[in-house]
Amino acid sequence: MLRDTFGRPLGSLRISVTDRCNLRCLYCMPEAEYVWLPREHLLSFEEIARLTSVFGGLGVTRVRLTGGEPLLRRHLPDLVEQLARCPTVQDLALTTNAVLLAPEAPALKAAGLHRVTVSLDTLRPERFRAVARLDRHQDVLDGIAAARAQFGALKIDTVVMRGINDDELVDLLEFGREMNAEVRFIEYMDVGGATRWQPEMVVSRAEILDRLTQRYGSLAGIDEVSSAPAQRFRLEDGLAFGIIASTTAPFCATCDRARLTADGVLLLCLYATDGTDLRGPLRRGASDAELSEIIHSAWHQRTDRGAEQRLALADRGTLVPVDQLRREPHLEMHTRGG
Ligand code: GTP
Ligand code: 5AD
Ligand code: SF4
Repeated sequence: MLRDTFGRPLGSLRISVTDRCNLRCLYCMPEAEYVWLPREHLLSFEEIARLTSVFGGLGVTRVRLTGGEPLLRRHLPDLVEQLARCPTVQDLALTTNAVLLAPEAPALKAAGLHRVTVSLDTLRPERFRAVARLDRHQDVLDGIAAARAQFGALKIDTVVMRGINDDELVDLLEFGREMNAEVRFIEYMDVGGATRWQPEMVVSRAEILDRLTQRYGSLAGIDEVSSAPAQRFRLEDGLAFGIIASTTAPFCATCDRARLTADGVLLLCLYATDGTDLRGPLRRGASDAELSEIIHSAWHQRTDRGAEQRLALADRGTLVPVDQLRREPHLEMHTRGG
């Protein structure tokens, strides 16, 4: 089996289908202007499906579509249909801000999508405007209701930021209960794009657990072997939730994720500063075997453990300055798919 230098297999592929987004969340796209990938560089659905099947031959069984905002890519259900047909794909998921989800949910389900994760940071419309800078809160709530109707259950991702939404932990959990959604609280990460990140704004897993214990009493950790980033817990009444502690307790040791940007760059880590171009070889007519060899070689040499290295820094500030992001948009979180 293919393993990287730390013995980690390649199991999951996160495919960004567009770098564009219809929100401007302060933890991901806080700037006024962005440099977008050239449209002619975006992989076609056929190119994405072909690469997915090559990744499948190297061990990838879990595929997640991300963005930017993936539903901005026109006819996304057509891609879902192609990927759902790929025999190696056992888990096919979508991470979305849900602004456009309500009208698309039936087609996504019909195309064979397995599950949906929605980003939701607040239940308060005025706060949503402050965090996401657009007035689309109701659309998001409608999208969540549609996901529930079509898929039965969903996950909700909440980035917890001190002084912004950290007073809503209980409200969000209770909303999740109503919507049959497993809420995952995510520690604010200093990834590329998070140009306003400050250590003081991170609410750690320990603090989140502390606050929830005060409200709900003792919490039980759910024991499971998994390469997923979320550690899961259960309230006494049975409600499950997760915490993704990428900032204070990174999961690099078990990270089996590859990322594909919308223009076909293979990234081996959320914090990677460069990647391997797959679009060039693909468009020059490389065979599946040749593409597989390029990916194999990149993974085989993989040494990335970005979040652990960030944690080891004594003085942790903004990861990438704005002017560098403008020169190298591949460093942006919205280009590498969150
Ligand atoms: P499932 O648990 O299978 O549903 O998927 P997931 O949790 O990986 O999916 P999701 O896209 O919802 O990711 C949740 C969050 O975890 C992301 O929004 C990121 O904040 C964080 N995350 C995802 N992938 C990585 C990664 O490779 N490294 C780190 N450090 N954080 C990640
Ligand atoms: N810190 C933590 N999570 C982030 N995401 C984007 N930027 C950050 C950040 N700076 C997450 C959002 C979204 C997912 C795609 O990426 O929660 O759900
Ligand atoms: Fe994987 Fe890099 Fe995230 Fe660590 S920081 S979990 S190696 S993607």
